[in-house]
Amino acid sequence: MASTLNPLRRPALRPERPVVLVGLMGAGKTTVGRRLAQRMKVPFFDADQEIEKAANMGVADIFEIYGEAEFREGERKVIERLLSGPPHVLATGGGAFMNEQTRALVKAGSTSIWLRASLDLLVKRTAMRDTRPLLRRGDPREILARLLKEREPVYAQADLTVDSVEGPHTRTTERVVQALAARAEEGHVV
Ligand code: S3P
Repeated sequence: MASTLNPLRRPALRPERPVVLVGLMGAGKTTVGRRLAQRMKVPFFDADQEIEKAANMGVADIFEIYGEAEFREGERKVIERLLSGPPHVLATGGGAFMNEQTRALVKAGSTSIWLRASLDLLVKRTAMRDTRPLLRRGDPREILARLLKEREPVYAQADLTVDSVEGPHTRTTERVVQALAARAEEGHVV
């Protein structure tokens, strides 16, 4: 019988290398990442949370006290450490993939996925939580529109692009699983 990409009819996809989610704030990286990890039976990490643990303070405080450059350095170190471990799903902060060194690490050591979302969806989702320092600097829609324009060409360098859709995160998670299964079918190490 011809092979099918229907994940329900396939054995669970167990990644051989880390799966890294990139994309803007509000794209659903953490929620989708957690579900994806459960689904693939591997651990889940959130880079922002790991940085917060290491610094013993929140991201907004790190930005305020040490500045963004220092945050990016900590972010790179945390991501480097995690990627050197066994397969897992890693949700990165929205700016991580914009850093050349961090991007090189992610590209070399994982299957990277850009969770792409519309501006309307990003605005709606980020409005639920006001802990993001970059969005406190002005009108969130304007900031997100600018970041989207600046960052899209870089996010597009990820191995896969999956649209983050409105509604339950399980729908987007399903799309990610299918995209990974299709990549494996094409003969890539996933
Ligand atoms: C940032 C995104 C945030 C966090 C920090 C900076 C960015 O992570 O790392 O506020 O530069 O886009 P999320 O994308 O998880 O919100």
